[in-house]
Amino acid sequence: MEQWIDKIKEALSLEELETLRVSIFGKKGELAKAFADMKHADPAEKPKIAKELNRFKQSLLKAYEDKKTELERAALQKRLEAEAIDVSLYSPRERGGALHPVMHTMDRIIEYFTDLNFAVETGPLVEDEFHNFEALNLPDYHPARDMQDTFYFKDGKLLRTHTSPVQIRTMMHQKPPIRMISPGAVFRRDFDLTHTPQFHQVEGLMVDEKGKVSFANLKWILEDFLHTMFGDVEIRFRPSFFPFTEPSAEVDISCIFCSGEGCRVCSHTGWLEVLGCGMVDPNVFKAVGYENVSGYAFGLGVERFAMLIHRVPDLRSLFEGDLRLLEQFR
Ligand code: DAH
Repeated sequence: MEQWIDKIKEALSLEELETLRVSIFGKKGELAKAFADMKHADPAEKPKIAKELNRFKQSLLKAYEDKKTELERAALQKRLEAEAIDVSLYSPRERGGALHPVMHTMDRIIEYFTDLNFAVETGPLVEDEFHNFEALNLPDYHPARDMQDTFYFKDGKLLRTHTSPVQIRTMMHQKPPIRMISPGAVFRRDFDLTHTPQFHQVEGLMVDEKGKVSFANLKWILEDFLHTMFGDVEIRFRPSFFPFTEPSAEVDISCIFCSGEGCRVCSHTGWLEVLGCGMVDPNVFKAVGYENVSGYAFGLGVERFAMLIHRVPDLRSLFEGDLRLLEQFR
């Protein structure tokens, strides 16, 4: 019987061990046979033989379990060695990801202003009429509301149409001086070559004691900003109207496609409009409870910047997730 223990100890593989298990512990195996043979023994001897057999069965089981563990461990070790992956190996990463061009442009804009110590503020996408319109000098009856038609909810809330409401929220929670930008998503009922129902804006606001912030300050910073974004372009300020600024201006850069010669993109004017700005209207300061201050504000569309910088003709193509387009921005 001892030979079985030796055989177990000498097994070279899990398969071999399994064959041994069946022939020793199986229904018709050696142990079963030995127990069956007890019926020929002297009844007086039976308890002693049974005890002996059981003890032997225990040592066989132990030898079997030990061997099994040993062989399993060896098999695992062999597999680990065979399947090892060298994570330090060079990979060409042919399909690596990248920032979406709109987000990349947004980051560049944010970086310009945070370098000048502007704080980054945010506000809710689902706004109320007060912050989105009223406090910005856009009362109910004002025709300018029409240009910013949006999506309304049953409770009177709406998807914000611009990032200007963040100006209001910031001024209502902080005392001047204020120097902030607010980047984020905005929504309008619009859809064509140059408009999508969701797009992104960056708003800017600077407020300090009356007389400390001038239109000249505004002009300087926007000119420097636009030169940083678009390089060596001409810049012009054109009188315009926004309810929340007075005076207001729209800012154009010389067309980067035709260098101001006139082409299809600039509608043969030689100029491209890139942002709106002005001195904060006194009614806005009144709405937030500010007195004896002056300030400037500006707002721009990030998609428009991205389109111009990367020369993308159709805005909608930026949001179709078409890899053929996106891969060009890696
Ligand atoms: N809120 C304007 C829009 O969405 C953009 C804008 C224009 C913001 C002039 C300003 C500003 O702060 O002074 O069209």
